[in-house]
Amino acid sequence: MAPVSSPLASLPGPLRLVFVGPPGAGKGTQAQVICGKYGIPQISTGDMLRAAKKENRLPADIAAKMASGGLVPDDYVVSLIEERTKNADCEKGFLLDGFPRTVPQAKALDEMLAKRGIKLDVVLALEVPKELLVERAVLRRTDKRTGQIYHMKYKPPPPDADLEHRADDQEEVVRKRLDTYEAMTSELLPWYESTGRLKRIDGVGAVDEVTKRVFSALGAE
Ligand code: AP5
Repeated sequence: MAPVSSPLASLPGPLRLVFVGPPGAGKGTQAQVICGKYGIPQISTGDMLRAAKKENRLPADIAAKMASGGLVPDDYVVSLIEERTKNADCEKGFLLDGFPRTVPQAKALDEMLAKRGIKLDVVLALEVPKELLVERAVLRRTDKRTGQIYHMKYKPPPPDADLEHRADDQEEVVRKRLDTYEAMTSELLPWYESTGRLKRIDGVGAVDEVTKRVFSALGAE
């Protein structure tokens, strides 16, 4: 497959993106900006799993995997994505945040999209050195009402925010998640690279600077 030069060249057609990156890389932060600009849904398997847990719909073994910093089984997240991407709001495209994480998930995604006669436009990999990731994740807070992501040092929340600290953002679990990412995702990026769909983005710097790099990678400067 030929390398993707400008995935936005064909807009206003649907835009189907994937964000890959280690915990705390800024996938959710950048996804909120991109989805706001293009009016496409941000589909985060992490958010879907946390919502299911809150509503007591998550099987106990899956909840335990998440709590320990491991990955949940491929077939479980694949079926979540299969259902979610059938929703009408995905007709204009979608941004997958944190899925796929393994080559089997990536292959399952390609197959499910091919059955519908559609395909991914681009895979964006946010790259941030490990030493910055722990601080980003541990000091993250999310507004329960709006879903807006804040950081106690880099993006302080407003005084009226109703803040939540993710259970898996305790330092020990974050380090385990980073190890899991390295072990299980090490094959994913080379695989996407080999299919010509990967764009690597330097995720170090202020949020706005990284956003500019993301739009530049999408050919939308
Ligand atoms: P998930 O919710 O996907 O977590 P994650 O991948 O570990 O990613 P994070 O949400 O921690 O980080 P992010 O990159 O979105 O960073 P953010 O923008 O918030 O997954 C959780 C769990 O669910 C997994 O461990 C696994 O168990 C399970 N799971 C999910 N998907 C799965 C799958 N496909 N297969 C199997 N299991 C799955 O930013 C972080 C912080 O940094 C914020 O405070 C933000 O304000 C700040 N920040 C962002 N950008 C910058 C910047 N440029 N400078 C300074 N600060 C910044």
